[in-house]
Amino acid sequence: MRIYLDNAATSWPKPEAVYGAVDRYQREIGIAAGRGGYNDAVAAARIVDAARREIAALIGARNPQHVVFASNGTDALNLAIHGTLRPGDHVVASVCDHNSVLRPLAEQSRSRDVAVTYVGCDSLGYLDPDDVRRAIRPNTRMVIINHASNVTGAIQPLAEIAAVVKGCDKLLMVDSSQSAGHTPINVTELGIDLIAGSGHKGLLGPAATGFLYIREGVERHVQPIRQGGTGVESQLDRQPDELPTRYESGSLNGPGLAGLAAAATFLREQTVEAVARHELSIVSRLWDGLSTMPTIKLYGPAPSPARGPVVSFSARGYDPQEFAAALDSARGIQCRAGLHCAPKMHEALGTLEQGGLVRMSVGWATTAEEIDATLATVEAIVAA
Ligand SMILES: Cc1ncc(COP(=O)(O)O)c(C=O)c1O
Repeated sequence: MRIYLDNAATSWPKPEAVYGAVDRYQREIGIAAGRGGYNDAVAAARIVDAARREIAALIGARNPQHVVFASNGTDALNLAIHGTLRPGDHVVASVCDHNSVLRPLAEQSRSRDVAVTYVGCDSLGYLDPDDVRRAIRPNTRMVIINHASNVTGAIQPLAEIAAVVKGCDKLLMVDSSQSAGHTPINVTELGIDLIAGSGHKGLLGPAATGFLYIREGVERHVQPIRQGGTGVESQLDRQPDELPTRYESGSLNGPGLAGLAAAATFLREQTVEAVARHELSIVSRLWDGLSTMPTIKLYGPAPSPARGPVVSFSARGYDPQEFAAALDSARGIQCRAGLHCAPKMHEALGTLEQGGLVRMSVGWATTAEEIDATLATVEAIVAA
């Protein structure tokens, strides 16, 4: 039996209802959502609408029609970044960002002369809202905040940062790929303009699901980056103005969205707060156990509600990849070693040269017994 500790890449297992919803969609509906008037096409469109409503409810968004579906967090971030930035703009991002933000920004810099300021973090991975304030310039188009780091787990003080960004009258975009489903968020209360997320990580949906929520009115700043069939306004030679079709070209991932709707319903019923409590207790067990081992060095903040369910460490004398391979062969422990697509974060932590860290990411279904078995295996490897 494997012990799966790579939930930050994608969550596993999914709630039973997710498997059921995907299977039912494939077998009983199995057609393109929003593309026909017959009964099953309407049923498919209803399922997609339910997914929009559920995601909107989970993030506290007012208008479900402004939840735009994407194929993953990366796809949603690309739409937000390439759709919003104009030649000569300035952007504030941070060293905590993932390559799904860093690389689109680098491309904007190369091809459209966009300037980027990367705000640094403290030794635990937290951003200082005053640093964000100091980085904002008159021509700043957008501030991008990584809500929860996929390396340190640090959950940024979003309310304070949002107040700074709103005070400067700039667009605020949040990458919730590692926070959605792990910690409560209310985009309306925080005044977030754009929030991108993965559907298949903490939101517990199937692979190839993601979303971008665009606050009402903000769509005038966001150009569609893809054109194509939408099933409505087919006489136009451009994208319809209405959301979500303005940004959703081509056939939707019906089975994936059916699963995502079921996952979001599951989270709403369980509550994100209860999942967060469980994950914090599991992270604490893992952190406390690892911190008794003298050759293990932990990174990121100690367990608290201001961190997500990701624990990263180095083991003295071991290359991170080698250590992760040893965990897998000793006990089927599956975790991720390396740079985690976050090179600036590792540079800030001083772990770039050593090839990154070993990362264990737990989830809603991780048990205390799995953590105890993991700790015993780590101990045996470092003692060998
Ligand atoms: C912080 C962060 N942002 C964005 C992404 C990209 O998400 P996806 O895998 O859904 O494309 C990831 C994936 O690990 C991530 O950790």
